[in-house]
Amino acid sequence: MKPLFALLAIVLATSALTQPLPTKYGASPLELSSKREWEKQVRPAVMEFFQQEVYGKVPPSQPKVSFSVIGQGKAFGGKVYRKEVEMTIGTTKALVLIYLPANHKGKVPVFLGMNFKGNHQIAPDPEITISPNAPKGKELGDDPERGAASSRWPVEMITAAGYGVVTIYRGDIDPDFDDGFQNGIHPNFYAEGQTKPHADEWGTIGAWAWSLSRVMDYLEKDKDIDHKRVAIIGHSRLGKTSLWAGAQDRRFAIVISNDSGCGGAALSMRKHGETVAAINRNFPHWFCDNYNRYSGNEEALWIDQQGLIALIAPRPVYVASASLDDWADPEGEFLAALYASPIYKLYGKPGLSSLQMPKVGEADAEGYVGYHLREGKHDINSWDWRHYIRFADKHFFGK
Ligand code: GCU
Repeated sequence: MKPLFALLAIVLATSALTQPLPTKYGASPLELSSKREWEKQVRPAVMEFFQQEVYGKVPPSQPKVSFSVIGQGKAFGGKVYRKEVEMTIGTTKALVLIYLPANHKGKVPVFLGMNFKGNHQIAPDPEITISPNAPKGKELGDDPERGAASSRWPVEMITAAGYGVVTIYRGDIDPDFDDGFQNGIHPNFYAEGQTKPHADEWGTIGAWAWSLSRVMDYLEKDKDIDHKRVAIIGHSRLGKTSLWAGAQDRRFAIVISNDSGCGGAALSMRKHGETVAAINRNFPHWFCDNYNRYSGNEEALWIDQQGLIALIAPRPVYVASASLDDWADPEGEFLAALYASPIYKLYGKPGLSSLQMPKVGEADAEGYVGYHLREGKHDINSWDWRHYIRFADKHFFGK
């Protein structure tokens, strides 16, 4: 490029970013005049807001990350192929479990999500390596067995539909309690003399989301995986995580949030169910320290969680709620999906089809923003998965 043009390009690029923040959006529909306004001006500001004030930034100095396949075999009576990969992040080791349909031809699209209690709990498969970080003894409560979480991971149904399942255990990346960030991956990122993340640096959700992008780095290299068709999924706190991972990393082709609630899909300014104050009090390690500014002070949020969903546009996003899950505020989750929908329209993609919240047991999932309200409690089950598979079939294969 000629020097004059280069200078002009730099001036134009920086002027978009140095403009004052656009109007405060609060919990309102994101009506903008053009895709350009969204991409050049508003989207970067929304991203900066969530990084700086909510989930925290990933620190600049990053450790080495490597992968090695540690085992493979068959499961589910030979119908499913299993592969395990050890992911090393500095001094931290995490196990990636991959299930694919055994008879697959070519590259397989996958659902990637984190699990709550260890890879061995997602399926009654005696060969899954048990993570040394997985809960032991008393901590297991009434959930001690291999396959205890299999109702949340219908592997046979998913693989029969032609998809793979890729999962890692949250505790391998960062144990889910407030330990002042001394264990998990955080210490690998500290600058000399640093002992905890700065106020604008990531908490646990940020670390979980970042690690899912590292799994994606591996999936891009695995010849069995269709890395252009990776749907990222998560339930509850891990649904907050899948939204944040999907917002930041455009390689995730579909993003699914199941009952993610406060700090996930639900609008915080409604203060219905879990509030910002409650989540910061009970889970002080999830968000960055700056997020405490909004405890009991939701009105100060420059933009609400509809901004998080809009960051995913124009990629398909699915938000799901459960009828008895008042703590996660189903209506607030629906409204955030609705308020993000105008951004999809800027790309010529339909968002939610109706202004009305679907009835219990119904879905609005014909467009690029999907939503359903399952009957029942806070959970993820095969009813939810059937809808996610249908959504993926539609967007990945035009079925
Ligand atoms: C708690 C928490 C929620 C979270 C949920 C979960 O209920 O308050 O924010 O989503 O745990 O992860 O199951």
